[in-house]
Amino acid sequence: MNKVTINADLEQGKINKNIYGHFAEHLGRCIYEGIWVGEDSPIPNTNGIRNDVAEALKNLHIPVLRWPGGCFADEYHWKDGVGPREQRKRMVNTHWGGVVENNHFGTHEFMMLCEMLGTEPYICGNVGSGTVQEMSEWVEYMTFNGESPMADWRRQNGREKPWKLTYFGVGNENWGCGGHMRAEYYADLYRQYQTYVRNYGENKLYKIAGGASTADYHWTEVLMREAAPMMDGLSLHYYTTPGDFSKKKGSALDATEQEWFITLQKAMYMKELISKHAVIMDKYDPEKRVGMIIDEWGTWFDVEPGTNPGFLYQQNTIRDAVVAGVHFHLFHEHNDRVQMANIAQTVNVLQAMILTEGEKMILTPTYHVFEMFKVHQDAVKLEMDVKCDTYELNGEQLPSVSASASRSKEGNVTISLCNLNYREESVVSIQLRGLVGEINEVSGRVLTGNEANAHNTFEEPHRVQPGELESFTLQDGELTVTLPAMSVSVLTII
Ligand code: AHR
Repeated sequence: MNKVTINADLEQGKINKNIYGHFAEHLGRCIYEGIWVGEDSPIPNTNGIRNDVAEALKNLHIPVLRWPGGCFADEYHWKDGVGPREQRKRMVNTHWGGVVENNHFGTHEFMMLCEMLGTEPYICGNVGSGTVQEMSEWVEYMTFNGESPMADWRRQNGREKPWKLTYFGVGNENWGCGGHMRAEYYADLYRQYQTYVRNYGENKLYKIAGGASTADYHWTEVLMREAAPMMDGLSLHYYTTPGDFSKKKGSALDATEQEWFITLQKAMYMKELISKHAVIMDKYDPEKRVGMIIDEWGTWFDVEPGTNPGFLYQQNTIRDAVVAGVHFHLFHEHNDRVQMANIAQTVNVLQAMILTEGEKMILTPTYHVFEMFKVHQDAVKLEMDVKCDTYELNGEQLPSVSASASRSKEGNVTISLCNLNYREESVVSIQLRGLVGEINEVSGRVLTGNEANAHNTFEEPHRVQPGELESFTLQDGELTVTLPAMSVSVLTII
């Protein structure tokens, strides 16, 4: 029996919309082809940005977009990516496939993309192979309004006014591709670099320190101990991979029930990670001023057969959709500490929202979860108690149901529910405490597939898409809803 009680009169703070953030790196076909096609492309575009992708992304209300990497960020020299495009340096993207990077998508193009999408930029600076001066000048270039070498150069390059920039990352994965540093060494570098990342005029930066991978609690401890007062956020990266990360991660499309189960078990591990990193953060920052910024998360499978291994192109199924739903619920649950999360990555890379092939584009099951859940952005979390059956396989257990509820500023209540069970539907009774008498209308949407590997293709683009959820009844303040196996649902109460 699955029983959910929502205490609609017990509010638990805002769900920061930034947990619905994205990440787009110069990796494979994410930026080039996926977003940027150039002004002369036969693919319909606006100033070089493809229209179909921009339209689809606008509909997600992406609150914040991280760029230019990832590992690419610590090899990126921003000055190569401004000025007349035909004169920009061509370089090798050494980390990702060794392909030519022509720098046609640089600071101005990224800021234009953000303006088009109505999203806030989150820029990740280069600590691994860049200088303090380079980082400092980038901020000056983007945000200074007065007369200065960088601000004047920006004007020469066609942008009179500075951009508004809030989120700035000081390096990425500096324990790995960002310089293979020890936490102690990076903590000192962080202190140094961030000193010259200045607030110009009204522009107030939110500085994010490069954080730990997975369960590296020592990294969090050292960063918080040595640098907490100088940061606004500390990042955390964790990817969901069913297999062995360095050998065989597992296929995106051929999941058995065993792989389905392990994938969700690993997705649920995010709960332990958030809790344990949060305990360390609490020790140094009991007021919870420093945000936990999960700026890379999502599934990471083996690349699709026949594709460049350095491009990280993978398909996306209903399994990815349930992974996304479960992550959002965990981020909501920890809304006192988790202030931002950025899925890796927006287009054509890892757990993407959109896949492209030439002029064609498809929306993935993960896209649909972001779209269905966007009502949670900046909504108030409602207290909820979930008692549910277990889903068992080979002696291991997972909860069958994951859920969360929020109230929007218009007063509508949203309940999102994932059924993790591979085989069976789950019937859930939802007690709506504190809402009885206020309910005018209930409607629902559901995303499911008839098999674990259900996905969209360029030939069959709408195989997995949300439909109306009809399997619910409302009686005396109790909603009874039947969730199909392997599904993500959203109920709206007006
Ligand atoms: O998202 C792909 C890569 O994963 C990023 O570049 C890096 O930060 C992480 O290891």
